[in-house]
Amino acid sequence: MKMLKSCLTGLALSVAASVAPAAEVEVLHYLTSSGEAAAIDVLKKYLKGAGHNWKDFAVAGGGGESAMTVLKSRAISGNPPAAAQIKGLDIQEWGELGFLTDMDAIARAGNWDELLPPVVSKVMKYDGKYVAVPVNVHRVNWIWANPEVFRKAGVGIPTTWQQFLEVAPKIKAAGFVPLAHGGQAWQDATLFEAVALGLGGAEFYNKAFVEHDDATLQSEQMVKVFETFKQLGDYIDPNASGRDWNIATSMVINGEAAMQVMGDWAKGEFTAAGQQPGVDYVCLPAPNTSGTFTFNIDSFAMFELNDEQRAKAQQHLARLVMEPSFQKTFNLNKGSIPARLGMDRAPFDSCAHASMDAFVASASSGTLVPSFAHGLATTSQVQGAIFDVVTNFFNSDMSAQDAVAKLARSVKAAQL
Ligand code: GAL
Repeated sequence: MKMLKSCLTGLALSVAASVAPAAEVEVLHYLTSSGEAAAIDVLKKYLKGAGHNWKDFAVAGGGGESAMTVLKSRAISGNPPAAAQIKGLDIQEWGELGFLTDMDAIARAGNWDELLPPVVSKVMKYDGKYVAVPVNVHRVNWIWANPEVFRKAGVGIPTTWQQFLEVAPKIKAAGFVPLAHGGQAWQDATLFEAVALGLGGAEFYNKAFVEHDDATLQSEQMVKVFETFKQLGDYIDPNASGRDWNIATSMVINGEAAMQVMGDWAKGEFTAAGQQPGVDYVCLPAPNTSGTFTFNIDSFAMFELNDEQRAKAQQHLARLVMEPSFQKTFNLNKGSIPARLGMDRAPFDSCAHASMDAFVASASSGTLVPSFAHGLATTSQVQGAIFDVVTNFFNSDMSAQDAVAKLARSVKAAQL
């Protein structure tokens, strides 16, 4: 009798398993550096823990440009993944093309409108409906410094661009690379937007990179931004061309370089290397940008699927991403702060606390600005046009006046 019971139980279990088979969830992402891989592993574990199969679709390349190219070809051939790491205005473009699926029922059931700050939820919606789910908020305007290198060079960590230009020659003379950088268009743009925000302030930044105001794009202030940006090139080592951002971060970690201007995904690298903020490294707002916050929100956009089981697993993924425990663990690894409100701050470090405080303060003072280098401010066409001008200028002897004229022309053309 006992044996029959256990046989029946076994049979019932296998029947249950066969009527509700684990479904596959394919996720496209570009989270391949040490810190990023630790973060995406958290998502894999959650999904596997919920009984589904994770199909990894990783396309390496900082900033996600290569990932977007691969995604386009998969989508065009009618075989998109269930979810893809798509951000900002790109979500609108995919929505417009009809590729994304409506997650509104899940969002309503989960109270997403109450759980997310409006600046985040707005980005996740296409045509008033949720089509993407946010994993985090990254602050982009940071400087990551190695205090030991500064000590050896006998200078302080700069809080203004003026100070940067004063201390950088001394750091160089002491035998260190002042600014760790990778010569890739998106990294040049990340540095450039920090200079623009620092020298011009939030209003100038918004006028230029959100509103694309012609007079601001061609202003004397913009000429100064380009001039200062160009000067930074003197403090980058000659091998920077093409270097990945995380290799630049490792130069700060191993004491070869003094600092890097990069979003707080860089913190994920320090964490993965076992380093502590305030001890092994220091995070400070990028020069002249304290009180402001350049935001970059990572999210997974959900594609329309025609397989019911897979669509259910995809919805499950969306619910898991909004779980507080997921948002905590993912962001502890990624270096960012949770996208959802009301989270316990205690597990997070001092850099994350500074980011949380600056996010709230800048939202109320009007100095919370979207990152154009990371696709939160402009369409991909305008973003591409700005990238071209910034990178060509940085790597040639183009004058700042010519760059500004070119910037205004290219931004206008990209909007046609
Ligand atoms: C950003 C992205 C981050 C990080 C970084 C480097 O655009 O939002 O999550 O991956 O690029 O690839």
